[in-house]
Amino acid sequence: MAFPVLRRGGTAVAENSAENVRERAVEAALARLDLDTRARLLAGRDMWSLPGLPAIGLRPLVMSDGPIGVRGVRWTADDPSVALPSPTALAASWDPALARRAGRLLAQEARRKGVHVLLAPTVNLHRSPLGGRHFEAYSEDPFLTGEIGTGYVLGVQDGGVGTTVKHFVANDAETDRFTVDNRITPRALREVYLAPFEAIVENARPWGVMTAYNQVNGVTMTEHRHLVNEVLRGEWGFDGVNVSDWMAARSTRGCVEGGLDLAMPGPHTVYGEALAAAVRAGEVEESAVAAAVRNVLRLAARVGALESAPPAVTELPAPLDGVALAREIAVRGLVLVRNEKEALPLAAHGTVALSGAAARDARVLGGGSAQVFPDCVVSPLDGLAAALPEGALTFAVGADPGDELAAAGQGFTLRAICRDADGTVLGEGTLPNGQVQWIGDDLPVGVTHEELASVEVVGTFTPRETGEHAFGTRGLGAFVLTVAGRTVFEGVQAMGTESDPFEAYFGAPVERAAVGLVAGETVEVSLLHPLDEEFAPPLPAVMFSFVHLGPRRDPCELIAEAVEAARAADTAVVVVATTERVESEGFDREHLALPGHQDDLVRAVAAANPNTVVVVNAGSPVEMPWREEVAAILLAWFPGQEGGTALAEVLSGAAEPGGRLPTTWPVALAGVPVSEVIPSEGALRYTEGVFIGYRAWDRSGAAPAYAFGHGLGYTTWSYDSLEVTGDTARVRITNTGDRAGREVVQVYLAPLYDTAGRPARRLAGFASVEAEAGGSVEIVVRLPRRAFEVWDEERSAWTTIPGTYEVRAAHALDDTRLTATLEVRDPA
Ligand code: BGC
Repeated sequence: MAFPVLRRGGTAVAENSAENVRERAVEAALARLDLDTRARLLAGRDMWSLPGLPAIGLRPLVMSDGPIGVRGVRWTADDPSVALPSPTALAASWDPALARRAGRLLAQEARRKGVHVLLAPTVNLHRSPLGGRHFEAYSEDPFLTGEIGTGYVLGVQDGGVGTTVKHFVANDAETDRFTVDNRITPRALREVYLAPFEAIVENARPWGVMTAYNQVNGVTMTEHRHLVNEVLRGEWGFDGVNVSDWMAARSTRGCVEGGLDLAMPGPHTVYGEALAAAVRAGEVEESAVAAAVRNVLRLAARVGALESAPPAVTELPAPLDGVALAREIAVRGLVLVRNEKEALPLAAHGTVALSGAAARDARVLGGGSAQVFPDCVVSPLDGLAAALPEGALTFAVGADPGDELAAAGQGFTLRAICRDADGTVLGEGTLPNGQVQWIGDDLPVGVTHEELASVEVVGTFTPRETGEHAFGTRGLGAFVLTVAGRTVFEGVQAMGTESDPFEAYFGAPVERAAVGLVAGETVEVSLLHPLDEEFAPPLPAVMFSFVHLGPRRDPCELIAEAVEAARAADTAVVVVATTERVESEGFDREHLALPGHQDDLVRAVAAANPNTVVVVNAGSPVEMPWREEVAAILLAWFPGQEGGTALAEVLSGAAEPGGRLPTTWPVALAGVPVSEVIPSEGALRYTEGVFIGYRAWDRSGAAPAYAFGHGLGYTTWSYDSLEVTGDTARVRITNTGDRAGREVVQVYLAPLYDTAGRPARRLAGFASVEAEAGGSVEIVVRLPRRAFEVWDEERSAWTTIPGTYEVRAAHALDDTRLTATLEVRDPA
């Protein structure tokens, strides 16, 4: 068989093409900037933007997180954004075209908020299920990650908005993320960790990448000349901007030489004045500064922020309905991993006993920089209440894993009063909940960082339950807490042992007082926070929270209530979840067990009702020790703002659960072949080489709970034929059930005799297709050249491995339906 020549970035362009005109405008603008202005541009202006330069028609370029929505420059709930499902859910759709529509919606959101560049997608890999940002990455498989990432980037850029594919490279865990040295062999880097970046650069030509906090093989990524200049730009032809992860740029000369264009957030970075001075001192080449500015101006030109240049997109795609798309992705991402005795869909006229705290207070997204604020969230309780007939649904909390205080929300009406050192009110901020997070210039009207001396969160609280309510603080510095006219705490919170500078602000809340309150009786509350230099965050910002937790109920009593309701219903639905303190940016998980008494709840409910359906509301794998005791299990990930509606559609059968596992789901942490995330002496050694995810499970011979690619629908499929010619596999399938459905046809490649230290098999292609009952579809999958290659460390080059390969058309990794063989000749 022969392969087509791989296209590299930087394709030739016609003399008068828009790209050429743009390049000329960029050169002309660059020529008009002196050294100091160039250096200032590369340092950034504030938390999210670059300085505008009116003299050359450059508007301030604005960036924003990413990846499930566009937060904008304000980190608060009063600037809402559409919240799509977590990246794990999007990847579970196995549908790059759907990812492209998600990208288009996000570009639309970005334009609405004046954002030019989205800080996404995250294409690091699920190396260990303990990774704190697992929910924010797509998969354990580099190919699936590259395909979904390509769709996403194409979609965002279709809308004329830039992306920064992140975090380049190997930011696969959070422990000591600012300093950890990830030691990875060249082969594993190429075949696994770099592979999604390479595919996206090749297929989507992204306008940006973000370099990671961590080191790779002794060099920090913002200074990694080899991986950035030689591999990313040199070999792959990347012509976009390289922006540092926030506060990752540490050395002026190192970053310039390492190909870093932008040091963010500004303005006090290793670029700016320090960069101009380094050029003048002869430490840094002026041409390197010019090259970085050229990249930034090209980005500005592409997104339409450089007046003299034609933007990359002049005609926007048709507008999308964000709420409808959020629901569609949630449905397509739901993975039905178990469905005994066809427990799902629910019987048409049955009753449902719903339990689990997350059924009422839904956890729709993961924590950290991925956080956005949707203006409306549909919980499972809301979704089911709307879908089922009156009287068919009951709800009991059953178990509440949220045993930590969280930003005061339900029942609170709060605002923030800002005062200067004399106590004069400078301004007031609206506060949809108890979290104050004013970053950079995002301060209430009339307030400046220079004058601001204290912030007081004040308002009222009307409890929904009678009992002891806990109140507390999150953040550093002095606090005075008052509830119902009584000062219940006055003291100072100092920095702990956190190694992550953000952890103290986003990390564990501290309980300060418990106050007995009566349901429905409103009380006044206040949290005064005098500001002090000593406790200031590492950038201009005010970050602290007023936190609360309702009365803690006896766990046995809660379970007993849910069991009683479950016994009386036709079906019991239990929603189990992780919490913000389990899955978030900034730290890794310590175990995979569900927090609190949720396992006990599931077991007790399952014992009372054989039709128990468990919905897992977690961004990444959790242990499910009861999995053989329940009738059905649906993995909902963090399902985004429409999660409850999507869940009701799938439970009722109005829609089919479309997802397939993008990552292997283990039985227990102890059996996971690669799980270590804690560095030793500063280094995390990726000793497993290329064997992560299913490649590692295959090698270890152990069986997971659910294999990569697994997922059930509501219809059945026959795989009728598989034909392999050249680099193309043709698969014909028929929907043999009695309703329309969707199937993800997966094509795996297994070398029959391996002498090259390769995994037993790998995903080489897939397609997601629909068919009516009785309908047949033919899928054509092109087998990529890389699937037959390995990285030869001696030659520093890809090499094709000739021999016999088995091509498997499969419903899942562990469910091969058809096989064929393929001979690959030695290219020499
Ligand atoms: C995260 C990035 C994010 C940036 C800006 C960093 O801490 O690692 O993913 O884009 O902050 O919020």
